[in-house]
Amino acid sequence: MRFTIVGAGAVGSLWALKLHEAGHSVQFWTRQSTDTLIRHQEGSPQKVFTANSLELVQESDCLLFCVKAFQVKEALSSIAAHVHKDTPVVFLHNGMGTAELALSTLPNNPLLLATTSHGSLKVSEETIKHTGLGETRLGGINSTGNQCDFLAEVFQHALPPCYWERSIERALWKKLAINCMINPLTALLQAQNGVITDPQYRTQLDALSDEISLVMCAEGMATSAKEVFDSAIAVATATAENYSSMNRDVYYRRPSEIEAITGFLIHRASIHGIATPENTRLYHAIKELEQSYDHT
Ligand code: PAF
Repeated sequence: MRFTIVGAGAVGSLWALKLHEAGHSVQFWTRQSTDTLIRHQEGSPQKVFTANSLELVQESDCLLFCVKAFQVKEALSSIAAHVHKDTPVVFLHNGMGTAELALSTLPNNPLLLATTSHGSLKVSEETIKHTGLGETRLGGINSTGNQCDFLAEVFQHALPPCYWERSIERALWKKLAINCMINPLTALLQAQNGVITDPQYRTQLDALSDEISLVMCAEGMATSAKEVFDSAIAVATATAENYSSMNRDVYYRRPSEIEAITGFLIHRASIHGIATPENTRLYHAIKELEQSYDHT
């Protein structure tokens, strides 16, 4: 298949390399003004990818957006006019809230959302490290997107495991819950994911999981505070040595995904009239940190 990967960060580069190794033809679409990009995995040979070819966008069999949620709008507006209406478009990022934008910008395309727990780190401009084996879940958000289950097989072949989800929303909420539990705390503490398993954070995590489970239930995603707590602890234990994406964003003073993660949860909570004091506190703490970047 011919892929255009939108975004050449750690996640986009990992997928580009894996899809290329699986025999697909891959180009990048990036904000950089370049026509080629070199990428390789630590210890593997370099591969030169074409970048920003409009012709290749038009000929693509699939577009895979690997930009952060807050970058989707700008990326979509740079490419949407060139995408054939039958081309499936997949959005892969942490957090939620981009589905409406995708549906209104590309109303005729098969549209899909995906979530992944693979760890990937850019160790230099051209080199990435696959830091943790995870899994990918994929599902449609419109009727034609729902018919693209073959893509789960394509992704499974390139970077397994990949599961097809009849209700991708449920998988996205489960991941959102984990991100709400791990990301802001590890960013504020500037510590690895394992830190949240320390008993001193138990009360705070209990408060977070209570709030998150109430919002999920109100959204029709039946769960319990225990389930939310246990799944976050399981991920934090399995990735104890890793730094969360929000930890890295704060460390490098980049804009974080707080709006699409905790911000999305708080927004949905307010619609249901559910109080989320602990999540709101973390949300404001991260926002304050981001604002301080401009002044220091
Ligand atoms: O955002 C991240 O870094 C990851 O999704 C998570 C869940 C924290 C695991 O490292």
